[in-house]
Amino acid sequence: MTLPGVLLLDAAGPEAGALATAAAARGHQVHAATTATAYKGYGPKLKDLLAGHIVTDFARSGPAVDEIAAYARRCGVGAVLTVNEYLTELAAHLCAELAVPGNDPVRVHAARDKAAMAKAFTASGVCTPYTVLVRDSAGLRAALADPRVGFPCVIKPLSGAGSAGVTVVSGPACAAAAADAARAVAGVYGSGGDPGVLVQAYAAGTEYSVESFTQDGTTTHLTVTRKQVTGGASRVETGHSLPVDLPPAIEAAVHREVGAAIGAVGIRHGASHTEVIVAADGRCTVIEIGARLAAGQIGVLIQHALGIDVWAALLDVALGRPAQLAPTACGCATVRFVTSPCAGRLTSLSGLPTVGPGVPFVRWRAALGGPVHAPDANGHRLGSFVVTGSDAAEVEERADALLRQVRIRVEPHPNGPGQVRPASTSAIAP
Ligand SMILES: Nc1ncnc2c1ncn2[C@@H]1O[C@H](COP(=O)(O)OP(=O)(O)OP(=O)(O)O)[C@@H](O)[C@H]1O
Ligand SMILES: [Mg+2]
Repeated sequence: MTLPGVLLLDAAGPEAGALATAAAARGHQVHAATTATAYKGYGPKLKDLLAGHIVTDFARSGPAVDEIAAYARRCGVGAVLTVNEYLTELAAHLCAELAVPGNDPVRVHAARDKAAMAKAFTASGVCTPYTVLVRDSAGLRAALADPRVGFPCVIKPLSGAGSAGVTVVSGPACAAAAADAARAVAGVYGSGGDPGVLVQAYAAGTEYSVESFTQDGTTTHLTVTRKQVTGGASRVETGHSLPVDLPPAIEAAVHREVGAAIGAVGIRHGASHTEVIVAADGRCTVIEIGARLAAGQIGVLIQHALGIDVWAALLDVALGRPAQLAPTACGCATVRFVTSPCAGRLTSLSGLPTVGPGVPFVRWRAALGGPVHAPDANGHRLGSFVVTGSDAAEVEERADALLRQVRIRVEPHPNGPGQVRPASTSAIAP
C-alpha cells in the first residue's frame, strides 16, 4: 500500500527536521514547500531526506496556495504541516484546498494577527489583556490615556514572533520609541506593511505556556510549561521547564481559558502553543496563541519528560489518524538558552555541555567570528541545551550549573575591548 505523502511548509529548523525525519522513518515521502533563499540553507541530510520540493513565494498567498496545491496533488500528498509561525494560515488554506485535516482557514487568521486575536478572544469570552490598535501618534496618545491600558503597558508588533519589537513601557516618555521598535520589525514573507502597532494592558503574574493537540475539535492539553523570561523592557525567554504541577483549581482555569482560545481562532486539527500569565490570585490571562507546536525545544522536552512522541502525534493528527497523546514517562526536562551579554563579534566559546546522560540535546548556532546581538529577541539566542531527570529541582540546578560553565568572549561594537563573561542569565524573572 502506498502511504500518503507529507508536505511541510518550510522544512528549516530543528522542529521541522525532526518532523521530516519522523515522517520519512514511517515510510512517507516527505516534500517541502519553500522559498529559493530558504532552500539554499537546507543541510545535505534534509535535502537527501526530501522526496521533492517546490519553490514558491509565500508572500503571494493566493498564487502560493494554487502552486503548492497543484504540486501536492501531483505527488499524492495526504497531510500538510508546518511548525513555522508565519505559515500557519497558509497551511490552513492548503488543507482546505486539498480537503485534508486542517484548521479553519477563515478564523485561523486570528492566530497570526494579534489585533484580530484580541477581537476573537474577547468575542469568545477569553480573558485577554485590553488591546488597542494604533496607527499614528495621536492614536498612541489616546491609547496611553485610556484607563483600560494604564502603565506599565506593552507595545508590540501586529504579527511578530520571537519577542522581537515587544516592549514593556513604564511611562509615556518611552512609548514613541517602543512604537517605532514595534513598527520596525521586518515583515516575514511580506506580512509587514501595516503601520499599526498594538498597545496592550500589562498582565502581571507568572508566565506559562500550554501545549495542546486538537483532533476533530477535541483538545488534549499535553503539559503546562514554565517560561523563564527576562525582566525589564524587553522580555526574552531564557528557558522553559516542564511539566508544571499547578494547583488543580488553577490548572482547571488555565485549561478552560486555553480551550476557549483554541476554539476562538479556529484550531480544529493540529498542535497549539498558548501563552498565559497567571496572577497571584489565580486569574489566568491569555497573552497569545500559535496554531503550531511550540518552538524553543519544547517538543524535545515533552518527548523526554513525558515520553510523548510529538512528531508522530503531529503526523497522525495531520493524516486524520488517532494520535497517541498519553504520557508514557513522568520525568522533568528543562532547556536553557545561551545569549550574549552584548552586541559585538563572537571571538571564543568554551564550556558548552555535550550530549550525554541527562543532556539529550545541545545546539549551537552562532558562528565564531560572526556578529552576535544583545538578547532583545528570541532570535538572538546563540545556542541551547536540554537537561532531563526525575527530580525537577535537581534538573534545574544542573541546568543552571551547566549554563554557568558556558563562557563566551565577545568583542563589543565598535571595536571596544574584548570581554569574557558567563553567558547572560541576568534579570531572570522568578
Ligand atoms: N500584555 C502583556 N502583559 C505582560 N507581559 C506581556 C504582555 N504581552 C507580552 N508580554 C511579555 O512579552 C513577551 C513577548 O510577547 P509576545 O508573546 O506577545 O510576543 P511574541 O513576539 O509573539 O513572542 P514569542 O514568539 O516569543 O512568543 C511575553 O512572553 C511576555 O513576557
Ligand atoms: Mg509570545
